[in-house]
Amino acid sequence: MTNGNSTATPAVITCKAAVVWKSGEPLKVEEIQVDPPKSSEIRIKMLCASMCHTDILCSNGLPIPLFPRIPGHEGVGVVESVGDNVRNVKPGDTVMLLYLGECGECLNCGSGRTNLCHKYPLGFSGLMPDGTSRMSVAGEIIYHHFSCSTWSEYVVIEANYAVKVDPRVSLPHASFLCCGFTTGFGSTWREVSVEKGSTVAVIGLGAVGLGAVKGAKQQGASKIIGIDVNTFKRDKSKAFGVTDFFNPKETNKSASELIKDATGGLGVDYCFECTGVPAMLNEAIEGSKVGLGTVVFIGAGMEKSGELDYIPLLCGRTVKGSIYGGVRTQTDLPKIIEKCVNKEVDLDELITHEIRLDEINKGFEYMKQPNCIKVVIKF
Ligand SMILES: NC(=O)c1ccc[n+]([C@@H]2O[C@H](COP(=O)([O-])OP(=O)(O)OC[C@H]3O[C@@H](n4cnc5c(N)ncnc54)[C@H](O)[C@@H]3O)[C@@H](O)[C@H]2O)c1
Ligand SMILES: [Zn+2]
Ligand SMILES: [Zn+2]
Repeated sequence: MTNGNSTATPAVITCKAAVVWKSGEPLKVEEIQVDPPKSSEIRIKMLCASMCHTDILCSNGLPIPLFPRIPGHEGVGVVESVGDNVRNVKPGDTVMLLYLGECGECLNCGSGRTNLCHKYPLGFSGLMPDGTSRMSVAGEIIYHHFSCSTWSEYVVIEANYAVKVDPRVSLPHASFLCCGFTTGFGSTWREVSVEKGSTVAVIGLGAVGLGAVKGAKQQGASKIIGIDVNTFKRDKSKAFGVTDFFNPKETNKSASELIKDATGGLGVDYCFECTGVPAMLNEAIEGSKVGLGTVVFIGAGMEKSGELDYIPLLCGRTVKGSIYGGVRTQTDLPKIIEKCVNKEVDLDELITHEIRLDEINKGFEYMKQPNCIKVVIKF
């Protein structure tokens, strides 16, 4: 790898990255070129990344097929160089790479009610905010994944999408906080506010669902029902706070029937859908209380969402969609990082597999195994 001068005028860096060339095909580890950061951008040398279910969607060209592309939207690295107008971080800082920024000034930031900033949005174009890419392979541009692309030894992002991380947080934990775990955890606190004593169901117990379980527990929920078609998730979810685990495949009942059975027929106050399986959207609604229940849709899937059943919704339930659990990257995320530092939140239980960047396709294989929660990528 040739590393350019990292001071006044940093040079193009040649390094390795995992590139997807065609929808659903295995990734190839290629030598790519990473441009220097522009004025409001930073270039980062990656230290650790991880794999989220959404990376499978990206590699399959969803929601928009843009290739060649470098997936990855969870990761942590050290700032190598910064543009002239960057003030929030400096070379040498360890930072998390995020797919949402927070300007603090736009309509949405000003509302205090959402994390979906207008100035630094979730980007679907595969390009930097100025409409260009900082990565290329043999002269051909490579698309980013959201506003990052963490499966590369070096990456450029807009500085506002970086958050400094306390070096006491382990690198894999910091990486998990960039998407999966935080999305579930935050949704119980920022997207809705689970009250003490309330009943909760979480459908799908991957890193996202386990985050929702942990969040519900910290908010003081009295009953946390975990639903998963994979029985391996029973013990794991209990370690995070599930009080009642059900695998619908082991019964002749649906998820909503099991939730109702466990709540005296009423359903739960809050139901979090964390599978991305369209059929589970109606199950989540049906499993929440008539008149009082709130459902949070988090899962994203390969298949188009089916139709929502109209009558159960009319019966007074509230449905809310969530990106990154409603967590504001500059305001709220540091509070979660602090919980990790204080060991109030311990993410060791999430680590099941570890690979090097050049083993990326092995990572996809691991993700299919029933005991897999998180695959960590070491650089
Ligand atoms: N909205 C967001 O900001 C956001 C962020 C991260 C991930 N996601 C999405 O959230 C979902 C979960 O992500 P993850 O990384 O935890 O995924 P994961 O694959 O690790 O976990 C999904 C879990 O759901 C279970 N499951 C699958 N089908 C089921 C069914 N019919 N009934 C019950 N359980 C079922 C699986 O066994 C698995 O344990 C994915 O769709 C992902 O794309 C959304
Ligand atoms: Zn904003
Ligand atoms: Zn993700």
